[in-house]
Amino acid sequence: MTSSTPDIIRLTGDGLRFLDQTQLPAEERVVATADYRDMLEAIRSLRVRGAPLIGIAAAYGAVLAAREICAGASGTDSGDSSCRERMLAVCEEFASTRPTAVNLFWALERMRTVIREHDAADIPRELEREARAIHEDDARRCAAIGRHGAEIIPSNTSVITHCNTGALATGGDGTAFSVLLEAHRQGKGIHVYADETRPLLQGARLTMWELQRAGIPSTLMTDSTAAMRMRQGGIGAVITGADRIAANGDSANKIGTYGLAVAAHHHGIPFYIAAPLSTVDLALPNGDAIPIEERASAELTRWGDIPTAPEGTSTYTPAFDVTPAGLITGIITEGGICAPPFGETLAAAFA
Ligand code: MRU
Repeated sequence: MTSSTPDIIRLTGDGLRFLDQTQLPAEERVVATADYRDMLEAIRSLRVRGAPLIGIAAAYGAVLAAREICAGASGTDSGDSSCRERMLAVCEEFASTRPTAVNLFWALERMRTVIREHDAADIPRELEREARAIHEDDARRCAAIGRHGAEIIPSNTSVITHCNTGALATGGDGTAFSVLLEAHRQGKGIHVYADETRPLLQGARLTMWELQRAGIPSTLMTDSTAAMRMRQGGIGAVITGADRIAANGDSANKIGTYGLAVAAHHHGIPFYIAAPLSTVDLALPNGDAIPIEERASAELTRWGDIPTAPEGTSTYTPAFDVTPAGLITGIITEGGICAPPFGETLAAAFA
């Protein structure tokens, strides 16, 4: 991101500032709040989105809650336990915002541990330390993903990506986007095709905004153009992020990713997922167990105030799909690139 990039998310002494991503690219609107309830709404409505950033936003949201709830704690045993109880309830509220990205639950578990281990008076300070650590840790993971991933990007090729995986989605330069950025910085001469990403246009609104700011040669296309573009040749790789990766490598990502992987397989093009290990959920044996968020029908039947389908239209609106491990060439993590069989290589990456 350039020096003129607005705060994507930043905790201050008196609150939290975040870029309202629903307004991009028309407006770079930074919202300031000291109320954790605003962060619940911001995550639900995708003002702040992208798997790692959702976890970071919830962690900072818990800090705002602690400043409100624990600030006046009496220092007695009953005061401590009621503050802890209320804070754990706030964590539950954040956990209910979006079900698919496991980074949210991973970050909240770290916050819960801090809440359980400290007295009320110390909780705001300790949660702030933990939230900042989660944020900084994700930035380091993004940088390592970029370094590892750039190795598999051929020179002078085009790469297709889907949804948004850059600084707007993470605590650093991104997941899949970090790979593209690093390949570009290394002078590999890549050209990026960004799927627009129906229905909320994260590819068109957000990824194109990031690609242009980074000076990466790029072209926008509709999701349904990807297969035809692959058939025309010159696509060296497809690379996307993920919201949750099961133990066997099945990967949930923005709706449309599965179709992209099927098309890449058909055309013999390598398909990569780039994600930090905080996106891997070893507790789930395969993708069938990944909870898939369904969004409101209005996201499909309206664009703002404009109807895009007749009144009364029945809709099916999963926000994510699961790409089976068999279609994935490699999973790029901060620890290196996991190759199939992912059951073994992902477990080894944690070890
Ligand atoms: O619904 P969103 O915009 O939060 O979905 C985001 C994605 O699907 C990204 O591709 C995913 O989080 C991986 S990027 C870091």
